Amino acid sequence: MEPQNNLNSAYWSRQYLSGRQGWDIGYPSPAIKAYLDQLTNKNLRILLPGAGKGWEAGYAFREGFSQVYYLDFSPLAVKAFKNIYPEFPEENILGTDFFSLSATFDLIIEQTFFSSLPRSKRNEWADKCYNLLAKGGKIAGLLFNHEFIFDGPPFGGSPKEYLGLLETGFEILTFETAYNSIKPRSEREIFFIVRKK
Ligand SMILES: C[S@@+](CC[C@H](N)C(=O)[O-])C[C@H]1O[C@@H](n2cnc3c(N)ncnc32)[C@H](O)[C@@H]1O
Repeated sequence: MEPQNNLNSAYWSRQYLSGRQGWDIGYPSPAIKAYLDQLTNKNLRILLPGAGKGWEAGYAFREGFSQVYYLDFSPLAVKAFKNIYPEFPEENILGTDFFSLSATFDLIIEQTFFSSLPRSKRNEWADKCYNLLAKGGKIAGLLFNHEFIFDGPPFGGSPKEYLGLLETGFEILTFETAYNSIKPRSEREIFFIVRKK
């Protein structure tokens, strides 16, 4: 158990070094893949924050999306991503803290990044997503629909809490139990799409 204010890049690099990566699916998440597959505009500026090994970022790039941005503040995550997807453009790899990023995107993809953050950062996360998105930009992805019995990360939450975070700045387009979660997360994830107001 790690104090929540110690969840810095050194903490995450230690997880990569130790091989403790229970969050890592090892291939593109089916729900995110399905979402990307139905998008027709391949020029969307897409940010994948806290992307880890970056399976979804690599998938999007290989599928022809021309402006995919991988972001993770752990140098070891970045290194692992580069090993898996050596063809991914170097200039689209952002090895920085999400909260200090300054740029504009059309889409932010969420998967196990929100749940990795200290709970005290949740409002800041919602504000940052809002500020990083162009007008009409979207966040799409997955959130755990329950609390965990241990102290995180991952930190869980409730649909009510998430809606409370998102409703001020975003129109809720989809918010439902994911039908295509990976088996160990079946019935435990919300798939959501929200659009910046
Ligand atoms: C639980 S892992 C999830 C990785 C990936 N999304 C996945 O599903 O495999 C969380 C990742 O977020 C990164 N991270 C946590 N806080 C961050 C921050 N403030 N800025 C950038 N990356 C961060 C960590 O380094 C770690 O790689």
